[in-house]
This record gives sequence, C-alpha cells and structure tokens, in this order.
Amino acid sequence: MKILLISSSPRREGSLTFLLANEVLRGCADNESVEAETIYLSDVKIEFCRSCEVCHKDIDSCSIKDDISMILKKMLESDGIILASPNYINQVTASMKALFDRSSHFIHCKRLLGKYIAGVISSGGGQDKGVLDYMMQYSHICGAQYSGGTSSRVPIGKEKMEEAYLLGKQLVSDIKEKRIYPEQIENIEKIKGYFKKIIQIRSSDWGEEYQYWQDKGWL
Ligand SMILES: Cc1cc2nc3c(=O)[nH]c(=O)nc-3n(C[C@H](O)[C@H](O)[C@H](O)COP(=O)(O)O)c2cc1C
Repeated sequence: MKILLISSSPRREGSLTFLLANEVLRGCADNESVEAETIYLSDVKIEFCRSCEVCHKDIDSCSIKDDISMILKKMLESDGIILASPNYINQVTASMKALFDRSSHFIHCKRLLGKYIAGVISSGGGQDKGVLDYMMQYSHICGAQYSGGTSSRVPIGKEKMEEAYLLGKQLVSDIKEKRIYPEQIENIEKIKGYFKKIIQIRSSDWGEEYQYWQDKGWL
C-alpha cells in the first residue's frame, strides 16, 4: 500500500503542518505493508497552469516541462494521499493550489477514483474548516473519497497529535477495506454526471479524454 504525503509549507521539516501531517503518516506506517513517501512542494518546481488544454487532448502530458508530471504520476501510483497545507488567508498555499490547477485532467477523468485522501491544516487562528472542506471538495472532483481531516492552531497540542495519528489509521483502514462512504459516492457520482456532459460537448477538442470515458464505459 502506497501513501503519498504532499506537504506545501515552505518551512519544510520545520513546518508545524508537517509535524501534524507526519503524525498522520506515523498512524499509517504502524501498518507493515505501508510504503510512504513525502513530497515537499518547496523542493519542486510547479508553474501556474496556462490553460492550454494539452492535458485534455493528450492525457498524462503537459506543455510546461517542470516537476508536475512526476508528482501526478506519484499521485496515480498511490493508494492514499495526505494533503498538508498551512492556512494562508483561509485557503491552501498558492503552491498547493498550483498543483490542483495543474491536475485538471484528474478532474475531467476522475483519475483518483478508488483512492482515499486525508487533509491536514495548521494555522495561527484555528479557523480551518473552510480549508479542509476545500480539500474534501478537491478529493471528490478527482473521484477520491475523503477519509477525514485534521487541523490545529499553533502550538499543536497533544490531543491534536493523537487525532492526527488516528486519522492515519483511518486512512489505511479505508484503503484496506475499500470503505464506501455513501454520501461521498453520491456526491462523486453527481459531479461525474456534470463532467459527462462537458466531455460529450467537447469531444472533438479533448480527444483522449473522450476516449478515456468511452474506454471506461461511462458514456
Ligand atoms: C501568507 C500567510 C498567510 C496566513 N494566513 C493565515 C490565515 O488566514 N489564518 C490563520 O489563522 N493563519 C494564517 N497564517 C498563519 C499560518 O497558517 C500558521 O503560522 C501556520 O501554522 C504555518 O504553518 P507551517 O509551520 O506549516 O508553515 C498565515 C501565514 C502566512 C505566512
């Protein structure tokens, strides 16, 4: 089982969000079959999406040659993803948003279907619900279920560390049991229905994405 932690604080291992996220990872890694990997977004280069639509025409490719293909590939290869971001003005960091924007093909083709995502936030003020909800929304539009989220204002207390550890256990258990959260699946299907119409309307522009939907028997 592969778990990928994507950590977006520029403070890398000094980051308090990473401290919390690492506890989620510790909860995951208590299971012997877990192979964990961390990507620090501060170590990689992700330019802003240019909306060229190349990834919709020729899937798994991008006109910008930076680190995005490597990261998207690792996301596709993982069973579970931990998204960890500090709260920056009631949002994820710009680096994480840039990653989300560059994964637009995942959204069109629900490429994270069958995977599980956990969200982690830290902040100065502790008003993080909206940011965690956004991470859940991102999970669903990509087809993934959301195992849950944890957030803490700083400094991070013992109970929050315990909550993070348990979230890691939950993530692994969801993957193992292939857990179905009925309300989440309903939402994922609803979003998929919306995208079905768009894929049909744009079939002549987005050849490979249309083909992907056809191959899946979704049209
Ligand atoms: C650009 C910027 C914007 C921030 N915006 C908020 C905010 O809107 N609300 C809040 O509670 N904290 C905010 N903070 C504080 C950080 O979320 C907080 O210090 C966080 O724990 C940093 O995480 P890190 O140690 O992982 O980098 C902001 C910090 C920065 C640098």
